Amino acid sequence: MSKTQGRFVSERKRSHLAGSLRANHAGQNVVLMGWVGGRRDHGGLVFIDLRDRDGIVQIVLDPSQAAMAQAKDLRGEYVVAVQGTVRLRPSGMTNKKLATGEVEVEATEVEILSEAATPPFQINDDSVSEILRLKYRYLDIRSERLSKYLRMRHDIVRTVRDFLSNEMFTEIETPILYKSTPEGARDYLVPSRVNQGQFYALPQSPQTLKQLLMIGGMDRYFQIARCFRDEDLRADRQPEFSQIDMEMSFVDQDDIMAVNERLAQVIWKKFRGVDLGPIPRMSFMEAMNRYGCDKPDLRFGLELQDLTNESKGTGFKVFDDVLAKNGVIKGLGVEQAGDLSRAQIDKLVDLAKKAGAKGLIWIKTDAEGKLTSAVSKALPEEKVKAIHKKLCPSGRGLSLVVADTFDTACAALSSLRLHFGRELKLIDETQDKFLWVVDFPLFEYDVEGGRWAARHHPFTSPQNQHMDILKNGEDKRYGESLAKAYDLVCNGHEIGGGSVRIHRSDLQAAMFKALGFTLEDAKDKFGFFMEALQYGTPPHAGIAWGVDRLTMILCRTDAIRDVIAFPKTAKATDLMADAPSQVSRDQLIELGIRLAPGVGETAAASPAPTDIKA
Ligand code: AMO
Repeated sequence: MSKTQGRFVSERKRSHLAGSLRANHAGQNVVLMGWVGGRRDHGGLVFIDLRDRDGIVQIVLDPSQAAMAQAKDLRGEYVVAVQGTVRLRPSGMTNKKLATGEVEVEATEVEILSEAATPPFQINDDSVSEILRLKYRYLDIRSERLSKYLRMRHDIVRTVRDFLSNEMFTEIETPILYKSTPEGARDYLVPSRVNQGQFYALPQSPQTLKQLLMIGGMDRYFQIARCFRDEDLRADRQPEFSQIDMEMSFVDQDDIMAVNERLAQVIWKKFRGVDLGPIPRMSFMEAMNRYGCDKPDLRFGLELQDLTNESKGTGFKVFDDVLAKNGVIKGLGVEQAGDLSRAQIDKLVDLAKKAGAKGLIWIKTDAEGKLTSAVSKALPEEKVKAIHKKLCPSGRGLSLVVADTFDTACAALSSLRLHFGRELKLIDETQDKFLWVVDFPLFEYDVEGGRWAARHHPFTSPQNQHMDILKNGEDKRYGESLAKAYDLVCNGHEIGGGSVRIHRSDLQAAMFKALGFTLEDAKDKFGFFMEALQYGTPPHAGIAWGVDRLTMILCRTDAIRDVIAFPKTAKATDLMADAPSQVSRDQLIELGIRLAPGVGETAAASPAPTDIKA
């Protein structure tokens, strides 16, 4: 019975999980092990909530009995073993909120397995700041919410593994200490001690490696792959994250999309109980034109409209200037928002500017039909009315117009669309809306760098009809090339993205050239890969899903941190272990590294409280 006796665990084993006890267990003798949740003293008896991985059950202890003298020492988060008999709770004492609420366990013996210091917060208390919960992440993981999410993640990954294994995919691990892989973010670098002055790059994804596995004849590969990207973080991005990464040989775009569609159907059937059916497809251009973004949330409407025709010949300088530069005039009508105040509209203008727009034109008619507009002086009245009528056909509501480059007008209106989707509660949270976005441009122009960049990555194949543009290096036509690339979108999140690959070395060389790599650069970074392509490469294609984003959606949470056991903050720090941290001078010397003057002296300063916000 005492702490030192230690009869439980070594001699007497756990017989049941606390959360599994039900009325049909009444009369059974059980051994339970777990943490002390709440504790209540009533008329000499002590009641505790015993919590384990499965849930909570009420234990009744009588400290006046010798075998339970320790009951009076029990405190929150102590780890205990309890032996006792399950009994039905007296009528009127059942707890409907608890799965075990019809029963309680009358303890006959209790042993403290481990004492606990007073925790910095109550487990399951959601009002506690996330900073504190991240610092004591292991305590937060004891909460019902986080532990449920982590188990869900496991179940999802297991379902994926089973599915892909049954589809003849082989799970293969690829190195973490590797060479830069171009996915558009900065690399995390690891200095080499043995080869001073040289660095490994942690993989942004196993892209080249999985293609090499196809060249190696593995035919179908998958991996739950850890990826590392040093990029600005958002609510659905982490610096290290996991992918369901896969690659298939001898397939084209439709084949790999079909396998992944089946995978989505299996997951949704299992975890949501719904038949997803075929996933619709939409071209990149259609998604941009209708929703202003390439990962539209289809759970609500509010589509954008093109106003370029209505805006010609108005004499309004803003429109004329934009049209003269091949820009666009696009708009969004929100018929429910005609009563917004000037202050509320100013916030919308800020939102549009944050997305890059130079301004936001608005026209509104309130419930009385009174029309007001920021451009009533600059734009002829009939033009104002025509635009308003097109955006708000009922004649009531708020019309928002952006005149800018195509990309900026889309970005600003997409951000406003999502804002209204949330604010006006237009999103049906009970539904999940999937979409394949296809026909992406192969290239995008990097204005700052003055060169073409790969929109997906440099290994993506052009569509058949645009193959010659790349082959012949027709750089004036790069902008019109479409890619054999596809993104899987769910509820406005890109949960997966992939492409058919270039499998001919001459075409891959042409691609590197198009992207502005010198021959030397290409050789230095991808020489091994270019060489491998020459030794018999099957046509192949692949995709990677974000495990974290997928789990986030299935758990119906909007923070990626919730589904990662030990996540990082928006500043890429770990508040619990205090990483990254300074290293000793000796370690640096061993690596042949000297810090720049002033660097490292303040690095250990603790993160600002706003740090976790994405
Ligand atoms: P891509 O870069 O589109 O493609 O990534 C694939 C999927 O990974 C997830 N993802 C992330 N999740 C969390 N945090 C991040 N920082 C993050 N970045 C990406 C997204 C995304 O859809 N090698 C290619 C795949 C291929 O072509 O086969 C790749 O990595 O859900």
